[in-house]
Amino acid sequence: MAHDLHYDELRKQISDLIAYVRQNNAIEPSVFEKYNVKRGLRNKNGTGVLVGMTRISDVVGYAIEDGKKIPVKGQLKYRGIPLDDLINGFIDEERYGYEEVAYLLLFGLLPTEKSLLHFNQLLSQRRNFPATFKEDVILKTPSQNIMNKLQSIILALYTYDDNPDDVSLDKLLAQSIDLIAKVPLMLAYAYQAKRHYFDNKSLILHQPLIDGGTAENILHLTRPDSHFTRQEAEMLDLLLCVQADHGGGNNSAFATHVVSSSGTDTYSAITTAIGSLKGPRHGGANQRVHQMVEDIKGHVKDWKNEKELRAYLEKIIDGKAFDGSGLIYGMGHAVYTKTDPRAELLQDKARALAEKTGHVPEYELITDIARLTQAILKDRKGPDYDICANVDLYTGVIFDMLGIDEDLYTPLFAAARMVGWCAHRMEQVMDSKIMRPAYVYLPSNNLTYTPIADRHSMSR
Ligand code: COA
Repeated sequence: MAHDLHYDELRKQISDLIAYVRQNNAIEPSVFEKYNVKRGLRNKNGTGVLVGMTRISDVVGYAIEDGKKIPVKGQLKYRGIPLDDLINGFIDEERYGYEEVAYLLLFGLLPTEKSLLHFNQLLSQRRNFPATFKEDVILKTPSQNIMNKLQSIILALYTYDDNPDDVSLDKLLAQSIDLIAKVPLMLAYAYQAKRHYFDNKSLILHQPLIDGGTAENILHLTRPDSHFTRQEAEMLDLLLCVQADHGGGNNSAFATHVVSSSGTDTYSAITTAIGSLKGPRHGGANQRVHQMVEDIKGHVKDWKNEKELRAYLEKIIDGKAFDGSGLIYGMGHAVYTKTDPRAELLQDKARALAEKTGHVPEYELITDIARLTQAILKDRKGPDYDICANVDLYTGVIFDMLGIDEDLYTPLFAAARMVGWCAHRMEQVMDSKIMRPAYVYLPSNNLTYTPIADRHSMSR
C-alpha cells in the first residue's frame, strides 16, 4: 500500500546541496541576542513574548515580580472558570463535560440544561458525512498517519461546503459546529481504514450513536465490538475536557490565529493547526511518551530499581538513548513551572484506572520518571530549576489503559482541541488585522549576480 518515494536515494544524490542548505541557513543562537530577536518568541527569562490578546482561556505558570519570573502552581481557566471547578462540577453532577466545555469556549457562557440539550442535538444531527464521502475521501486514500488523514479529510470538506470562503461569524460558527461534531467520525474511519489497508485487519465501520456524546462516539466508533463502559467514557470525556483549549500562545492556537488573520477559509486554518499539533514538542508528545516508556521497559531490567532507571533517564537526557533528542517526553512546559493543572487532574483518575485494569506498575513507572527527571535536571541546572510533568505524561498511560492504539493518541488530542481552534479562529477573524511580524535579514555570503558561464562551483 505504501508508496516508496525513494527519499533515501534522493538524499544521497543531493548530499552536497544539503551541505549548502546547512552552511547558508544556520544562525547561531547568540546572533539572536545580538539583534535582540526573541528566539522561539521567548523573552530571555523564558516567558513568552506578548503577541495577542484572548478572552477564551488563560494559562498561568509563573508570576513576574520586579521583572523576575517566579514559578507558581499552574492554573488553567476556560472563560474565567478554573478547570478543576468545571471538571469537579460535572463529575459531582454525574454528566459528561466535553460538550458543555465546547459551549463555554465557543460562546463564552455556561449552557443551561435546555441550551445544552439543544447543543447536543445539533452536534448529533451534524455527526454524519455527505453521501459517499467516507468511501471517496477516506477509504480510497487511507494514510498510515491519522493526523495526516485528518488534514486531508478536513480539506476535502471544503469541496462539499456551498460557500467555504465565507468568513461571516454565522458561517464560521456553522463550520465550527460541523467540525466538532464530525471529528470523532473522521478519526475513527481514518483509523479503521489504516488498520484494514496497512495492518491487514478487518474493515469495521460503525454508524455513529445518535444519543451518544463525543467521548461515547469515539469509543463506539473506534472499537471493533463497539463496547465501552461508563467509566471508560467518563475517563475519555475528562481527557477531552482538559485538552479542549490552552490559551492563544500554544503552537497550534497561535498557528490558527496567524493563518486566520490572512482571511483564509476555516478548512485551511484548521488543517494548519493539526499540522502544528502533530509535532512531538506539541501534541505529538503523547505518542512519544508511549514510545519512550516502551523503550525504557526494553532497556531497564528492573523499573523499580531507582538507580538503574535514573541512569537510563540520564542517557536519554544526554541524547544517547531513545530518539536522541535529549528530551524526556511528557516533562516540561513553556508556561507551567511547578505544576500542570491538567496533569494534576488526570493523575488520581489515572491511578484509579490503573488499579482497576491491572496497570499499577506502568502507572508507577510514569510517576517515577517524573520524579527522577525533576531530580536529574535540578542537579544539572541548579536548585531553582523547575520542571513539571505535563498533560501528555498521563494521557499516554491513560490511552494505553483504555486499550486505545498509539495511532489515535495525537488524533484524540486534535479531536479535543478542535473546539479551542474554532473559538480562536472566530476571535481572530473578528479582529481583521493581518499578522505580519518582522525578520532581520542576515545574508550568508556577499553574493552578486554573475552570468552563468562565469560561475564556478563552490565545491567542498
Ligand atoms: N527533557 C529534558 N530537558 C528538558 C525538557 C525535557 N522534557 N524540557 C525542557 N528541558 C530543558 C531544555 O532542553 C532546556 O535546556 P537548555 O537551557 O540547556 O537548552 C531547559 O530545560 C529549559 O527548557 P524550557 O525553556 O523550559 O523549555 P521550552 O519552553 O523551550 O520547551 C517544551 C517546552 C514543552 C517544548 C519542552 O519542555 C519539551 O520539549 N518537553 C518534551 C515534549 C513534551 O512533553 N511536550 C508536550 C508539552 S505539553
